[in-house]
Amino acid sequence: MLASNLMRDSPAATSPALFSAGFLARQEQRHRRDHAGLGAVARLDQVQDDSDPFVAAPFRTNGHPSRNGALLLTDIPWRLIHSHCHDAPMRNETAYHDALGHFFAKNADTSPYNAHTDRPAMLQLAGDVAGRRVLDVGCGAGHYAAELVSRGAEVVGIDGSATLLNYARAHVNGGAELHLHDLEEPLHFADDESFDGAVCALVIHHVTKRAQLLNEIRRVLRPGGWLLVSTTHPTADWRRFGGSYFAHEWSELPVADGELSIRYERVPLETFLGELLDAGFALERLIEPRPAAGLQEIDDAAYAKLHTAPCFLAVRLQRP
Ligand SMILES: C[S@@+](CC[C@H](N)C(=O)[O-])C[C@H]1O[C@@H](n2cnc3c(N)ncnc32)[C@H](O)[C@@H]1O
Repeated sequence: MLASNLMRDSPAATSPALFSAGFLARQEQRHRRDHAGLGAVARLDQVQDDSDPFVAAPFRTNGHPSRNGALLLTDIPWRLIHSHCHDAPMRNETAYHDALGHFFAKNADTSPYNAHTDRPAMLQLAGDVAGRRVLDVGCGAGHYAAELVSRGAEVVGIDGSATLLNYARAHVNGGAELHLHDLEEPLHFADDESFDGAVCALVIHHVTKRAQLLNEIRRVLRPGGWLLVSTTHPTADWRRFGGSYFAHEWSELPVADGELSIRYERVPLETFLGELLDAGFALERLIEPRPAAGLQEIDDAAYAKLHTAPCFLAVRLQRP
């Protein structure tokens, strides 16, 4: 029943997509592990934007399929590509462990998205952080933490990936406190009103218990403290995954030529912003970051693309 619904609804039913055998094997493993569909969501049949550099070539939907080492969409066991859209992933499963951590750490050094678009925009929103105590929520490989430390902040970074925390340790070189922490859990380690600011860069869309996390961030910020949050732009998600713009859907985004995937929940703008306001924060500024000028010399095509199609959203909020 589910398969036939998908066949009918899927744009790929009329526009064949290719899936590597490796990807299918991983989906099968994941399906077996998650048993009965708990937590496994794959919407790769709906990836629509073939100019999206996040999307690996074999997954693009509007090319002409060749069967060289790949399978046609019609070959896929449909039980593996199902759409339990509201099933959340298991705890901490969204953290970037092992190979995904290594891929992200390397990519975030220089990528047009992280290094040239998200980070410069968010750091500008942060303003002067000298002497401030800042919580880096989902600190990844420590790119933000290292930058904030170099600007004079005292930084505590937390992440659920031990792989990425190893990179973060090397990046901050003893200059910041780092903890392994599942963001689905309260921030037990932090006292009330003990931080001046918090950065949550490209992380919130991975978290299921977002209301709890935001309430916890509010608790540990002092009154008047600030919170910076960036996320995937909802229109970019709509272009990638199709379906309804208003969907709340756990989705899988293939990266690293389809060898790996990133799992997150796409939500419309009103949900992203509404959750922050519901947690008691006041919006100070919302931006749609475009790449810094330096990218043009390095990658003119990415620069032009990111100046045309929004990729991220970023907000600065205040804890009243
Ligand atoms: C796109 S990366 C962003 C990293 C960093 N903020 C940056 O911008 O460079 C997303 C991060 O969220 C972390 N993450 C995802 N789900 C998590 C969870 N449940 N608990 C802790 N960390 C999580 C990942 O491990 C990864 O480091």
